[in-house]
Amino acid sequence: MNEKVETIKKELENSLKKVNDMKSLNDVRVEYLGKKGKVTELSTHMKDLDNNQKKEFGKILNNLRKSVENSLESLKVKIEEEELNKRLEAESIDVTLPGNKLHVGSIHPLNKIIKEVEDLFISMGYDVAEGPEIETDLYNFELLNLPAGHPARDAQDSFYINDELLLRSQTSPVQIRTMLANKEKTPIRIICPGKVYRKDNDDATHSHEFHQIEGLVVDKDISMNHLKGTLEAMAHHLFGEDVQIRFRPSYFPFTEPSFEVDLTCFKCEGKGCSMCKGTGWIEVLGAGMVHPQVLKNCGYDPEKYTGFAFGVGVERIAMLKYEISDIRDFYTNNTKFLEQFNKFESGEENESK
Ligand code: PHE
Repeated sequence: MNEKVETIKKELENSLKKVNDMKSLNDVRVEYLGKKGKVTELSTHMKDLDNNQKKEFGKILNNLRKSVENSLESLKVKIEEEELNKRLEAESIDVTLPGNKLHVGSIHPLNKIIKEVEDLFISMGYDVAEGPEIETDLYNFELLNLPAGHPARDAQDSFYINDELLLRSQTSPVQIRTMLANKEKTPIRIICPGKVYRKDNDDATHSHEFHQIEGLVVDKDISMNHLKGTLEAMAHHLFGEDVQIRFRPSYFPFTEPSFEVDLTCFKCEGKGCSMCKGTGWIEVLGAGMVHPQVLKNCGYDPEKYTGFAFGVGVERIAMLKYEISDIRDFYTNNTKFLEQFNKFESGEENESK
């Protein structure tokens, strides 16, 4: 019997030498300790022995089982360590390898202008207000002092959905919405960026869909001085401190008096160039003092309150600022075109002026 034990030990030694992973280790475990394993099999000889021998043999068997288990366990620890090392080696990262270049997008030039204007006005205590793009005739025209049949409606040939609803042709209805919602509460200081729609034939300088930023201030004692100072601040913020503004009399039904506002050409500094068509001035926006009738329409007593409003085309500002000659470039999602505007982010903006 002892011989058998010794052979099993020898065989085990040999088998263990061949083990190189968890699977083969497990096979050896089954081969020796499994139900039909070599060690288990030995114990079937018990029944042929007398009591004394049984005791003796039992001890031997126990020791054998323990020593097989110990050998298997220490080999298991070794294999686990090896496998872990292998895995760590395979997963190690060579930090010196060149990385993959990430494609970084850029902010759309129109959003850039909107954000720049928003930042300025927020810093001056304005709120940013929004209104729906599908607007009622009442808010888009009627309450803005443009009743049906008014000739000034022709200047904003609009997309009507039915008799009452249209795609808004200007951001001015947000003035109405804000005043109505505030019920004679003052001050009102808002700017409203958004999309507007007009039945224009698309070409290099016209688009049936474009963006405006509306501004509105209503309070006691608001004067032309406030309007001029505010527009000057906006012009300086967008085009630099040297830019001057001038007001030309104009007409909008919802402001009285009304003005077109020009800036000195920031390219030639007023000397005259192709950008300003030799005049030294560039027309950029419409503005005026809120018409008393509009105040009245929205529940504000024009004897007590005054206000100013302005509306600026975002595309127009972006085209001037970035010297873009075709408005359609803004809408074609051409990444080559859009990527150029990354450089304006990194502070090169001032150098390019
Ligand atoms: N809503 C006018 C337009 O689209 C612009 C404007 C706004 C003029 C506010 C004066 C005051 O032409």
